[in-house]
Amino acid sequence: MTNALAVITLCVLMQVICALNFGKTYKPYSAKVFGFSWENCGMPDDPSVLKTLTLSPDPITIPGDLTASASGATTVELAAPLSVNVTLEKEVAGFWIKVPCVDEIGSCDYTDVCALLNQLIPPGQDCPEPLHTYGMPCHCPFKAGVYTLPTSDFFLPDIDLPYWLTNGHYKVQGVLGAMGKELGCLRITFAVHSNT
Ligand SMILES: *[C@@H]1O[C@H](CO)[C@@H](O)[C@H](O)[C@H]1NC(C)=O
Repeated sequence: MTNALAVITLCVLMQVICALNFGKTYKPYSAKVFGFSWENCGMPDDPSVLKTLTLSPDPITIPGDLTASASGATTVELAAPLSVNVTLEKEVAGFWIKVPCVDEIGSCDYTDVCALLNQLIPPGQDCPEPLHTYGMPCHCPFKAGVYTLPTSDFFLPDIDLPYWLTNGHYKVQGVLGAMGKELGCLRITFAVHSNT
């Protein structure tokens, strides 16, 4: 379960701290099916915007090191109750299949991300690296402003999932909301290669 929590933490932190969206880009999925890409999927007036995101290697290797950088901005304070609605799709034989929500992983609606963060990282404890080093917060509320995560290394632990479930191409969309209002939306396409 610890590994699953680490993955959820990473996903949630990426989504909340890096607050998402870069203008209304309801483009059809880009032709670049292979490898990493990202785009905003929110409304033009969404207050929370992701500005840059890099991830390497491509494909992401599990277990293995992940190098990431990100920057985002929010014009409103992100405070409880914050929701993140995640839709995860996996490419299977040329089709995108929605991965169901199982044990809080997959296409899940997280209705109270602030409480989830408090559960994963007890308040009063240092935020996990590299957030601590860069003085980035890991609990609500997140003040309005610009957040920048310089290029940082993460270790992705082995995930206890069958080979056929981890390997492949994925699309994940996260919609950040509060009180029924959309604050931001981010869509990321990536590939995963498992060594196990
Ligand atoms: C997230 O999903 C819930 C239903 O589970 C819905 O009520 C809510 O409006 C959604 N939030 C956003 C921002 O779309």
